[in-house]
Amino acid sequence: MAIPAFGLGTFRLKGEQVISSVKMALALNYRAIDSAQIYDNEADIGQAIAESGVARSELYITTKIWTENLSKEKLIPSLKQSLQKLRTDYVDLTLIHWPSPGNAVSVEESMQALLEAKNQGLTREIGISNFTIPLMEQAIAAVGADNIATNQIELSPYLQNRRVVDWARAHGIHITSYMTLAYGKALQDAQIQWIAQKHAATPAQVILCWAMAQGYSVIPSSTKRENLASNLLAANLHLDADDMQAIAALDSHQRLVDPDGLAPNWD
Ligand SMILES: NC(=O)c1ccc[n+]([C@@H]2O[C@H](COP(=O)([O-])OP(=O)(O)OC[C@H]3O[C@@H](n4cnc5c(N)ncnc54)[C@H](OP(=O)(O)O)[C@@H]3O)[C@@H](O)[C@H]2O)c1
Repeated sequence: MAIPAFGLGTFRLKGEQVISSVKMALALNYRAIDSAQIYDNEADIGQAIAESGVARSELYITTKIWTENLSKEKLIPSLKQSLQKLRTDYVDLTLIHWPSPGNAVSVEESMQALLEAKNQGLTREIGISNFTIPLMEQAIAAVGADNIATNQIELSPYLQNRRVVDWARAHGIHITSYMTLAYGKALQDAQIQWIAQKHAATPAQVILCWAMAQGYSVIPSSTKRENLASNLLAANLHLDADDMQAIAALDSHQRLVDPDGLAPNWD
């Protein structure tokens, strides 16, 4: 089962805001939704899905296990709570959101608990997020690369994460790009705007197309119908080699998500 190339992000969105975003997105034919226990919006998303009338079988729902729930005692019960909030019997993909701070719970323990959740039918696929190369090595040692559907990492024109991408690819791990738009910052970039003008496209479409053209899945978030609709059309855009090269040259290793006490030693 391949991870959808395009999905909806929901970080920071709660209550009426996330309900409205998810309902608009589903009406526009989005079918993949990215959530997380720590976003505190799983119940809102469950409500939005129920009210949308879209069949569960058409959807690809992702959640992520928070760091407090990584032990073998806590992981499965916490995932069952997520399923209850999301009003579903299973999620399509469950990720370890961040490696355990200070390695309080080993990668081996959390990955094996996640694999057990998969074996119990609570999640169709499992994966990791914010994992560095040494952490990916540990995850593969624990459950095998075949069981790791993706590594979801910050990846934008300003943080292209080449080492992690190349290593993951060499080991058969798919990349999901989060904050592909650099939380809106990259939309102001003169080079991106020039490429957008050239193709009569939006800057967001250019960036999303650039990421998908490299085989990454993307999960941009938006609270606005117009942006949700135009972002989805990024799949129809074709960038040429000059465009791809110009965006490749924007890499400045600028990381936006680097939380104290949580972030690993980045590659
Ligand atoms: N695994 C992790 O640790 C992790 C960390 C961060 C994020 N994520 C996931 O990745 C998703 C995406 O990241 P993100 O939401 O932080 O940032 P993002 O998708 O890079 O950017 C979202 C921002 O861009 C704006 N935007 C979207 N489309 C636009 C358009 N066409 N024109 C102008 N502005 C536009 C949105 O504003 P409007 O609402 O005004 O459109 C919003 O402010 C998250 O929602 C979350 O699901 C995962």
